[in-house]
Amino acid sequence: MTYTLDYPTDLAGSLSVQPHYFDTRARINCLIDRYLSIETLSDRLSDLPSQFTNPHQRHWEPIHWKEIDRSQIVGIDPELFLKVIAGATEIEAPIRAYSRESWEYLQAVHPQMAYFMGGDYAEDGSTLTVGIWEKEERQHAPTFIKIYQQLTGEKLQPKPNSVDGCHPSGDPWADLHKHVLSRIATEWSAASVYLWLMAHSTGELQRAIAQPLQDEINHLAKFWGFSRWAFADSYHQQLKGSTKNLILLLKHHQNERTDANDLMDKTLKLENLTHAVELLFTLIRVMVRLRAWNQELTRSYLRHLLGESPIPSSQQIAA
Ligand SMILES: [Fe+2]
Ligand SMILES: [Fe+2]
Repeated sequence: MTYTLDYPTDLAGSLSVQPHYFDTRARINCLIDRYLSIETLSDRLSDLPSQFTNPHQRHWEPIHWKEIDRSQIVGIDPELFLKVIAGATEIEAPIRAYSRESWEYLQAVHPQMAYFMGGDYAEDGSTLTVGIWEKEERQHAPTFIKIYQQLTGEKLQPKPNSVDGCHPSGDPWADLHKHVLSRIATEWSAASVYLWLMAHSTGELQRAIAQPLQDEINHLAKFWGFSRWAFADSYHQQLKGSTKNLILLLKHHQNERTDANDLMDKTLKLENLTHAVELLFTLIRVMVRLRAWNQELTRSYLRHLLGESPIPSSQQIAA
């Protein structure tokens, strides 16, 4: 175990010399209050219409790479922490294929959202413009590779995930509905894992992870709000759909036999049960915060923000 005495408080609140489960929970709650406030979630969603008219990337705070070191890993076996970093790197790639997949599901139904996520393609399939979502996401895997290198002195050779690609069923609205729920699940799980990593880190290491974290929260707010607007799902319907997709995602990663799979095996071992419970706690706390925010997303507010939903009302589920 690595304990750090140099940082009595950090982005996650107070830092115990020997953090126990309840200390880590308090740090997770503190991070959720800091990065997932109702104001932040509303701000990130209200940014979406301006992305359609004036695409712009979220600004990153500079990372001081040389100041990252192993002593900043808190209350966890550093080897397990590094496994999670390696797993995160693999889950983040290949972003090109992910963005193409989203573009294909969206372009017939909502071209502006297709442009935000996947940019634009020429007739021959070559890329004309890279979407903002992809531009933000493609910074994540290199960031985790660099963090890993700074902590170990070794260069990671991540094995990117396989991507299912677009499989149209003939009902583009239903296909898009499923796809958006799967994107919510990936943003939700990435945000939760990065919050948990921040609860187990401090100093520059923690500040570095805060950058991809804020992108994931930005995307989560946008996709959650877009889905509420387009499909008029209730909170429970979105929770159920996202959870189902999260389980499918975990099964997919297990079949990949990558470090992400290894991470799950390691995390779920009995001695690491506490960390598995912490991760589950983080996933739940994020959803609890989304439930509170969801109450603000009334039909009239969403219509005011994004206009009339293009989805036929027969495809919408009454909220
Ligand atoms: Fe990401
Ligand atoms: Fe993301």
